Amino acid sequence: MDFFETVDKRRSTRAFQEKEVDIKTIKQILDAVNLAPSAGGLQAYRISVVKSKKTKEELMLACLDQESVAQASVVFIFSADKKQSEAKYEARGYELYAVQDATIAAAYCQLAATALGLSSVWVGAFDPLEVSRLISAEPEEVPVAVIPVGYAAGMPGRTGRKQLKALVREV
Ligand SMILES: Cc1cc2nc3c(=O)[nH]c(=O)nc-3n(C[C@H](O)[C@H](O)[C@H](O)COP(=O)(O)O)c2cc1C
Repeated sequence: MDFFETVDKRRSTRAFQEKEVDIKTIKQILDAVNLAPSAGGLQAYRISVVKSKKTKEELMLACLDQESVAQASVVFIFSADKKQSEAKYEARGYELYAVQDATIAAAYCQLAATALGLSSVWVGAFDPLEVSRLISAEPEEVPVAVIPVGYAAGMPGRTGRKQLKALVREV
């Protein structure tokens, strides 16, 4: 799929078919994520890959009962490794870069999934302590995004956008 077509086709999808995403496809997504830029090339993030039905159900509860989390074939959790970024970049690494590294990686995950004919949704509403417990996060590893991925049960419509003039400032 062409890049602009991929960007255009990505829609937040909250209902998935039961069809499983195979290991090869998961690996393709992870390979694309691994190419994302990161501050100083540190890749100060971790990716937790959840396929177990039981863990997905526990994760759903940690995500304020959002059913997309349990329904998806696979759930990726991107967490910021704040300590790692701090070691090189001090406060800016701790406060900002590690979170940005994890965020960009999660965006690559969504776009790679779309390019492979899959759908996803960015889940940001969750209990961070409970998600950290479920993924056995290290101290100072902070979950940033939960991304359920699967085959869409129906394609959602396009959501609205601001006009560019409301976003873009010419300086
Ligand atoms: C930081 C962030 C947090 C979000 N949290 C949630 C969430 O918890 N649950 C959900 O269903 N969608 C969530 N979304 C998805 C947005 O609702 C969605 O991207 C937005 O409505 C635009 O729709 P689109 O993705 O289909 O273009 C989140 C998106 C972002 C970027």
